[in-house]
Amino acid sequence: MPKHVAIVMDGNGRWAKKQGLPRLAGHNAGMMALKEIVKKSSVLGIEHLTVYAFSTENWKRPQDEVGGIFKILIYYVDKELAELHQNNVKVSILGDYGLLPKEAVKKLEEAMERTKDNTGLCFHIALNYGGRDEILKAVRAIAKETAEGNLLPEDITPELFSKKLYTADLPDPDLVIRTSGELRLSNFLLWQTAYSELIFPDVLWPDFTPERLEECIKEYQGRTRRFGGILK
Ligand code: IPE
Ligand code: IPE
Ligand code: MG
Repeated sequence: MPKHVAIVMDGNGRWAKKQGLPRLAGHNAGMMALKEIVKKSSVLGIEHLTVYAFSTENWKRPQDEVGGIFKILIYYVDKELAELHQNNVKVSILGDYGLLPKEAVKKLEEAMERTKDNTGLCFHIALNYGGRDEILKAVRAIAKETAEGNLLPEDITPELFSKKLYTADLPDPDLVIRTSGELRLSNFLLWQTAYSELIFPDVLWPDFTPERLEECIKEYQGRTRRFGGILK
């Protein structure tokens, strides 16, 4: 079983268009799909599930879509928090989420606080997350410590660098899934995915089911990971 599964939940807009619905209906349907995937991940015994919910570039979208996405998120957290907690899920946020609307920040902090002692699935939501932004924040923090004389350049190792990222305490993703047929990472976990297995199911996110997740995991289990080495 992969320890850490990371998902780029893409295709909500196209799903809505196909049904002749507004884009926000797609985001709403995407939240329902997510709910099932979180449950299934718990049952499967995955330790970490990370989902890409809003990128640093998604602010470019029309204001009403951006606002709508956060409203749907608040609604989801409100409605699901009790059940997440009951299922022993621990919620965390990756990204500069302080820049989200106040109401969303409040709900997310409430979710993290309420579930912080849970020992089941660690569910990470990437919000206002960008891989480049994350790397630059780490570089700035390291530069500051170095300038202050608290860190030597030779002490900057991959391990130390990893500790400065939003994902400081997480293992790197074993498996990255991106739905919708797009074959790119779109600024997701750039440092952490160096040796991740990538799977691109040809399905729009709202149509991604727990069965599809199991298929992806089967495919992952059939892959050979070498990490640059050779098989003995
Ligand atoms: C992913 O679905 C959700 C977010 C980026 C918030 P999209 O909204 O990108 O859906 P498409 O790619 O337009 O179909
Ligand atoms: C990536 O999807 C971001 C999320 C799923 C949150 P996008 O739809 O923003 O990516 P591009 O623009 O197609 O690369
Ligand atoms: Mg998209």
